[in-house]
Amino acid sequence: MQLRVDARGQGGDKAPEAQGGGWSMQTVLVANRKGGCGKTMTAVTLASALAGDGHRVALADADPQKSALRWLKRRSGEDPEIVGVDWTRSGKIGDVPKRCDWLVIDAPGALRDDRAEALIAEAKAVISPVLPSVFDEDSTKRFLRDIEDIKRVRKGKVGVHLVANRVRPQLKATARLQAFFGGLGQQPLAWIGDRAAYSDLAEVGLAVFDRPQKQFEPMRAQWRPVLEVLGS
Ligand SMILES: Nc1ncnc2c1ncn2[C@@H]1O[C@H](COP(=O)(O)OP(=O)(O)OP(=O)(O)O)[C@@H](O)[C@H]1O
Ligand SMILES: [Mg+2]
Repeated sequence: MQLRVDARGQGGDKAPEAQGGGWSMQTVLVANRKGGCGKTMTAVTLASALAGDGHRVALADADPQKSALRWLKRRSGEDPEIVGVDWTRSGKIGDVPKRCDWLVIDAPGALRDDRAEALIAEAKAVISPVLPSVFDEDSTKRFLRDIEDIKRVRKGKVGVHLVANRVRPQLKATARLQAFFGGLGQQPLAWIGDRAAYSDLAEVGLAVFDRPQKQFEPMRAQWRPVLEVLGS
């Protein structure tokens, strides 16, 4: 798949580096075949962190539920700008606004093989949230196996990173999740706590990086290893 600059961008069928003459864009795909594991929350959090750092960010929603686009609609004009892109129809996958530094893609839960391939085609990294639950662990194993079949992943051209989400340290499920990562031979990049603030902020189109308040700092700190891997 080649990313295409949309009608406003007048770029035609050009690779992202060619946008606006030498513009280079990096793409991160947030995906896991399990529904409800925090894909949208992760996508909007990363988009807001990157936008807050002064990057021009597009958020592509490939999920028919359009939760990421709905989140964007709730956002006020005073918050760092994030450009929404609707990728819910397969013909639209690959359309990107002009001159973006970052493209964050929110994948649907049920990721068909052909769509997975199209979505991974341009990604620099895949970030996959995993909840502390046996069902999520099973789905994650299958997801990792499935995407391993995609050539770019097999060849190591795209990094696939796990993020433990909704972690509550005192719970037995968290210890089991730790054992799961051990068995997998892949540690998560980050352990993200279970905090009501994520949904409270999402209700008004915000994420933890949009607000400077000290109370959100421990939450922001948990995301930093993810941003470091992205090179931001
Ligand atoms: N770390 C967290 N702490 C508290 N609530 C969270 C956290 N992560 C996600 N949530 C909440 O869990 C719910 C599911 O998260 P989200 O919508 O991001 O999952 P999803 O993987 O995108 O789901 P779907 O497969 O339906 O698209 C949301 O209400 C979200 O606010
Ligand atoms: Mg979602």
